[in-house]
Amino acid sequence: MENFSIDQLLYLVATAFFIVGIKRLSKVKTARSGNLLAAVGMALAIAVTLITPGAGIQLDWKVVAVGAIMGTLIGGVMAKKVEMTGMPEMVALFNGFGGLASTMVALSEFWGRNFVVGPSDNVILGNEVWVIAIILSVLVGTVTFTGSLVAMGKLSGKISGNPVILPGRHFIVAALLIGGAAMGVMAGFMQESYDPTAMILGLTACAAVFGVVSVLPIGGADMPVVVSLLNSYSGIAASMAGFVIGNPLLIVAGALVGAAGMILTIIMCKAMNRSLGNVLVGGFGGDTPSGGNSGGADEYTSYKQASPEEAAMILETAESVIIVPGYGMAVAQAQHVVKELAEELEKNGADVRYAIHPVAGRMPGHMNVLLAEADVPYEQLLELERINNDFKTTDVCVIVGANDVVNPSAIEDPQSPIAGMPILNAHESGTSLMIKRSLSAGYAGIKNPLFERENNYMCFGDGKAFLQSVLDELKEV
Ligand code: TAP
Repeated sequence: MENFSIDQLLYLVATAFFIVGIKRLSKVKTARSGNLLAAVGMALAIAVTLITPGAGIQLDWKVVAVGAIMGTLIGGVMAKKVEMTGMPEMVALFNGFGGLASTMVALSEFWGRNFVVGPSDNVILGNEVWVIAIILSVLVGTVTFTGSLVAMGKLSGKISGNPVILPGRHFIVAALLIGGAAMGVMAGFMQESYDPTAMILGLTACAAVFGVVSVLPIGGADMPVVVSLLNSYSGIAASMAGFVIGNPLLIVAGALVGAAGMILTIIMCKAMNRSLGNVLVGGFGGDTPSGGNSGGADEYTSYKQASPEEAAMILETAESVIIVPGYGMAVAQAQHVVKELAEELEKNGADVRYAIHPVAGRMPGHMNVLLAEADVPYEQLLELERINNDFKTTDVCVIVGANDVVNPSAIEDPQSPIAGMPILNAHESGTSLMIKRSLSAGYAGIKNPLFERENNYMCFGDGKAFLQSVLDELKEV
């Protein structure tokens, strides 16, 4: 206890802030304060690290100030300017920067010490393990950096969202892995026979190409899962960098990010009823739907249609309404008019709630974020498990730009590509109104039998425009 210094105590406080912050991020209501708490923890961590930089290290405060001001400005401007729909791209870019930072820390240690058997002052690791930490930090950090750039390109449409399957990609991957591993070993342990700088740069190059080659075959719509996985990698790389420089806080913070990213990745895969391996192999979810049959308009022979006036008439008499938002609501930016409609229905005496599917939209919490932006009360947002039994006692279900998350073939057709994926039981409600522009398929690219159900009406149009017309009708009545 007598060796327990004040900086270690403050690191412990920062760690507690991170843990409580992440815990609070798991609920919509507490997410903002969780984010703030984690940011305060990070500010504390940076301050303590700068004030106690370690034995023999002399900081140049001008350089620190320039870095801090530049970082704050870039981060602040980007966060202010980003559209809600551009959030996954920004997260991808920041993950990439995290990976790059870890690579640079490890490379600078590698060159700075010019070691043959490692330094003697690393407080955490023995020399050989320290070398391994450097190699892993460079490897994982660089894969995260280039993989994240490709993910960002796919999300923003700068790179085609369709899976790009390179000829002989398994051969390329194997060559990169073997070549990278060999150069890593030579860089760290066989420095008498080879130029270690050339070897570590070779490893960095292999890792950079590996990052690109592993993300290219994955379809654009699977990018949220990839970004979450890369987020986990950036944590692992940071943790390794923590071992490299002997900083316990970086080890813990990196491990937290690594674990949180991995848990989120697994949750997303489960909600899509796909394995992580299946996502990473690629070939699913491009710009054009894929996965099963085409789910095109020609596959539907009989469906009923409702105009905004007819939809308003159906809603006017409803006592209970569930709104199911999906990706199309985000595309149409219909969240504000959805809220106005809900308020109008409530004025009319109806009980209105929202059913939120865990993978509705294209990023975790997509619907929650949009509806929170429109000031929809948190209490009205109900997760799948809490609301699914209520559809059968609900008069009308309004489906706004959702498709796969209400596709009954997931529970009725064992051959369906989405068989086993949990869905919202919209088909059980008295009447469902499916608002979308056409009969085309959703992300999974498959037919949705709900379109042809007796109790369903297709309401063709842009989500925002259609709902606005319904709202106008209701107000007139
Ligand atoms: P989808 O099944 O992708 O369906 C969205 C529907 O929105 C489309 O069928 C489209 O039909 C409609 N749409 C597009 N623009 C519209 C507009 N302006 N107005 C009205 N409708 C519009 O969406 P979902 O039900 O939200 O399901 C999400 C899918 O994404 C799932 O398959 C899930 O596995 C996958 N996914 C999700 C995530 C996360 S984390 N959320 C990550 C990866 C993959 P029209 O073209 O006919 O309008």
